[in-house]
Amino acid sequence: MTTINTITILGSGVMGHGIAQVASTAGYNIVLRDIEQTLLENAMNKIKWSLGKLVEKQKISQDDANSVYGRITPVVDLKKALQDSDLLIEAVPEDLELKKKVYAEVEKYVEDKTLYASNTSTLPIGELASLTSRPSRFIGLHFFNPPQLMPLVEVIPSRFTDNDTVSIALDLIKKMGKDPVLCKKDVVGFIVNRIFIPLVHEAAYCLERDNAKMTQIDSAVKFKMAAPMGIFELADYTGLDVIHKASNEMASRDKRVINPNPLIERLFSKKKFGQKSGTGFYDYSGEDKYGRIKLSETEAEQYEPITLVAIVANNAAWLLSNGVCDRNDLDKALRLGMGFKKSPFTLAEEFGLKRVVSTLENLSNKYGEFYEPDILLKKMSLG
Ligand code: CAA
Repeated sequence: MTTINTITILGSGVMGHGIAQVASTAGYNIVLRDIEQTLLENAMNKIKWSLGKLVEKQKISQDDANSVYGRITPVVDLKKALQDSDLLIEAVPEDLELKKKVYAEVEKYVEDKTLYASNTSTLPIGELASLTSRPSRFIGLHFFNPPQLMPLVEVIPSRFTDNDTVSIALDLIKKMGKDPVLCKKDVVGFIVNRIFIPLVHEAAYCLERDNAKMTQIDSAVKFKMAAPMGIFELADYTGLDVIHKASNEMASRDKRVINPNPLIERLFSKKKFGQKSGTGFYDYSGEDKYGRIKLSETEAEQYEPITLVAIVANNAAWLLSNGVCDRNDLDKALRLGMGFKKSPFTLAEEFGLKRVVSTLENLSNKYGEFYEPDILLKKMSLG
């Protein structure tokens, strides 16, 4: 079995630099590769900031922080970045054309021993694996933002992935101190994004349809749906460029997975990407790297998030009905990947399963098949 010592991370953005930090913390030697030196400098600064926070909170010592930082080598030259690499983790933007180019270039320099992983959040792993010379040694390793704090990693084998690669991946994720959930089917959005991305679009519909304010919806999501952040806040935090790309990729493969809201397209085309660009759903002018929106229980009382509960429960039911995961893994994935403190089905029970199903039926009569309740949810509502 392959022993992993050196890991090359391709892409130093939000996910790439976070994964580099996490893997370095576990003791691996990391090569962080991006196409420009300035991007790498920016990434290394973010790693420094994050390590500083962890030292401040006494999660690690200053000496350890220095070692973690020191084990990460930023590199622009791809050939050099792939030298002696045991594993490459691709974390470039979620754009199939771009990924095709990256894998074609990688193929020129990659060594025989190197395993491939992609941190894609939505693209089918089998499709990416087919772009390479070793589909059986290719696996999805989907980390969550911020990788430094979120314990979940979805591990997604494709139909080509061999058992050895799955074992190595599960072992590696555990060594990184993360909790893996095996996604049994290579479906678009895997487990968490099947819930998260459609929820962002739906919340944007709720703004108009329910004539609600963003902070009312977000407060309700946080205080009535037991989430750590509001959904608009989370979208801004994740990046609307990421969400826009993920939405398009998901919708192009399965029309029923997302009901695209034009507001996402509008924000994206105005380059309002969220925190990283200073505006998104909210305005972050004056905020430094990490800003939070003021949400309150008083505002939560002003909005009933039944539609959002229904969308979450419906997609959760779809995942179970289609054998992507079982209920335990679903709950675990949402708890560790999005910080949801309650299972979607517990939430649906609290709001009333019959009410959840009738909400979906009303929406599907008005707005089409995206809202049709999953058969499992219907069964559950009958007791
Ligand atoms: N490294 C180190 N520390 C960090 C950090 C990082 N990268 N990011 C934030 N922190 C720090 C904050 O600065 C803050 O420090 P202070 O107390 O000194 O201010 C501390 O962590 C805690 O932050 P908060 O006070 O904001 O508290 P929180 O309890 O809400 O925790 C959170 C923050 C972990 C991000 C939490 O809000 C959370 O779980 N949010 C949901 C995140 C989520 O759903 N991620 C998944 C997005 S979807 C995705 O990633 C998939 C995809 O493919 C698109």
